[in-house]
Amino acid sequence: MRSAFPKAELHCHIEGAANPALVQRLATRYRVDLDGLLDRRGGYAWHDFASFLDAYGRVSSVFRTRDDFRALALDHFTSLAAAGAIYGEIFIAPDIAAEYGVAIDDYVAGLDDGIAEAEAATGIVGRMIVTGIRHLGPEPVRALAGWAAANPHPRITGFGLAGDESQHHAGDFAEAFRIAREAGLGLTAHAGELEGPESVRAALDHFAVARIGHGVRAIEDRALVHRLVEEGVVLELCPSSNVALGLYPDLAAHPFRRLMDAGVRVTVNSDDPPFFHTSLGHEYEVVSDVQTLGQSALGRITRTAIEAAFVDPVTRGELLGRLPAA
Ligand code: ADE
Ligand code: ZN
Repeated sequence: MRSAFPKAELHCHIEGAANPALVQRLATRYRVDLDGLLDRRGGYAWHDFASFLDAYGRVSSVFRTRDDFRALALDHFTSLAAAGAIYGEIFIAPDIAAEYGVAIDDYVAGLDDGIAEAEAATGIVGRMIVTGIRHLGPEPVRALAGWAAANPHPRITGFGLAGDESQHHAGDFAEAFRIAREAGLGLTAHAGELEGPESVRAALDHFAVARIGHGVRAIEDRALVHRLVEEGVVLELCPSSNVALGLYPDLAAHPFRRLMDAGVRVTVNSDDPPFFHTSLGHEYEVVSDVQTLGQSALGRITRTAIEAAFVDPVTRGELLGRLPAA
């Protein structure tokens, strides 16, 4: 998809977007062994969800200081802007950074520095979604929501849940989402990726989220698709990620277009780009070429992302003003 075509991204994990060249540079500085992590295609090597999480941890382990996180966010948002994005949200996971000794204040400040720098250089607008890790259990997720509520930040505008969706009951995280909602944060949760439609339903029932990360397996349940349409829930779809993780045999089999044609509000996203050998620009190309959606449908996808972005009304109006007339 031409880089001039306006794009927006709602679903990208910041460490999952780490450029291998930057990771190699920091690994050398901190003497971290990357043996077996890099693959021959310029991405990261893994073979199932458990080894994906392991590789994700190894990538995360090379980011140690505020300046490392500045470099990470600057690189990510600069390349998004070069691909034509006017807006990007990133999932940030302080609990993963903490495993490598990073203090939450340095983590957030460094990422914020990088976003501000990219914004000044390119005009892209960025926001952060503070994200709990489901397989770490309900208590750290609740504590993180409490931290977000107690530490308002102009670029932290959302609260999310990622990690292994098969772990724990959704109801165990309801309190975290209640705290985040009362703090005025936008809400999203990974569901219907590793688990089926019942997981999407549980996220809607227990978290009252406006958006679902993936949610793609809702397509297996006609009543649930109807509910998504009725309630205007936005899906953060990530086609290449889903194929890489084995949900679908190939990109043509992905239900992106079927969900859109059914009236579900969909967006297109890269998730963890070098882990899935993709980029936001490539995901727009997939939707255009493999799912055969035309320019006006692609324009609608960007517009949906801006409409569903976790931003204040003035910023949303400004971003919508950058899009061509519908
Ligand atoms: N964390 C990073 N990428 C993820 C994914 N695709 N699903 C769940 N958790 C994740
Ligand atoms: Zn994700």
